[in-house]
Amino acid sequence: MTTSTTINHPNFGAIDRDRVIIFDTTLRDGEQSPGFSMNLDEKLRMAEALAELGVDVIEAGFPIASQGDFESVRHIAETVKGPVIAGLARSGREDILRAAEAVKPAERKRIHTFISTSPLHMKYKLRMEPEAVLEAVTRSVALARDFTDDVEWSAEDGSRTDADFLCRCVEAAIKAGATTINIPDTVGYAVPEDIERIFTMLRERVPGADGVIFSTHCHNDLGLAVANTLAAVRAGVRQIECTINGIGERAGNAALEEVVMAIRTRPDAAPYRNGIETTRILRTSKLLSTITGFDVQPNKAIVGRNAFAHESGIHQDGVLKNAATYEIMTPESVGWQKTSLVMGKHSGRAAFRDKLRALGYGDVGDNALNDAFRRFKDLADRKKLVYDEDIAALFDETVVRDHL
Ligand code: KIV
Ligand code: ZN
Repeated sequence: MTTSTTINHPNFGAIDRDRVIIFDTTLRDGEQSPGFSMNLDEKLRMAEALAELGVDVIEAGFPIASQGDFESVRHIAETVKGPVIAGLARSGREDILRAAEAVKPAERKRIHTFISTSPLHMKYKLRMEPEAVLEAVTRSVALARDFTDDVEWSAEDGSRTDADFLCRCVEAAIKAGATTINIPDTVGYAVPEDIERIFTMLRERVPGADGVIFSTHCHNDLGLAVANTLAAVRAGVRQIECTINGIGERAGNAALEEVVMAIRTRPDAAPYRNGIETTRILRTSKLLSTITGFDVQPNKAIVGRNAFAHESGIHQDGVLKNAATYEIMTPESVGWQKTSLVMGKHSGRAAFRDKLRALGYGDVGDNALNDAFRRFKDLADRKKLVYDEDIAALFDETVVRDHL
């Protein structure tokens, strides 16, 4: 295994070993999920937002898939500055030529080519013998290298691939000129121990492994995509493939916002750097929701509307005294304005008093507060959510009725 402190990459130069490349595939794998397709304008807006967010690589699409996808990748390559622009291609010649043409105008470009390597996929999907797959690896990577020095090779269904065969494929890809080696957990089957074992094995056994960047691409079928991604980084992987809001095939891909905030919040457990401007996370997530028409669930980590909302009285009291009691990161650090104290049947008197202050009632006397709080609790038992207007109306009524 390597001991050098930097690794050379055609598009990034000398990269420190603690720097993790953030490869965003919202516009490719994310867009492949049912109902999430985007038109050219929407893809462009999203790509601009991703560049502002600070991702290192934007996988802009799968150019052979359709004329629309080709044009989207091409436009993004022409106009979006900053990140490397990647286009996906299977191992066939036509796919690679199409991807090369689409990413051509980019200042920094990448061709990402893949083929399945698991017994199941080779036998039933590709109907190819392992030796033929191996030849395709060499051929596809070498062809892609004719168009750019930055070539990524992926072993589709890599986590369910025989270890010896995976080593041979990775060695062939490196020899043919791949600079990034991605081992996807295509069907989200792996657990963190599998992921750590696979990458450790590849880095130990494959000749030339210390000269390339290993990459992880985890799907979320068992809800383990983020945990698996962090396990991969622990095993020496330095490129993370992820999507905004975790969108992607079936249960989705590793969510960019979760991986990035895990690294940022736990530098003791994950001492790695990346270039993400975290305060732009929420607006990027919202832009994607607006474009696709799919909001994230309320309890979604980092970007869900309840991620920094507190309803229970005990929690609200704690947060009012010191936010760190129930918040492991500040809402501002990911783009929220502030913690929100949601008023409901679990809320306590301290939060209620605070809410009245926020609504402009100043410091309310104890009697009025107690009466209003009692009525608020009755209301909260009947209504799921109590809005600011309800509280204002209830307080006005209490004061007018009993305390004037
Ligand atoms: O999940 C997967 O295997 C993929 C590859 C095409 C990289 O998306
Ligand atoms: Zn995928």
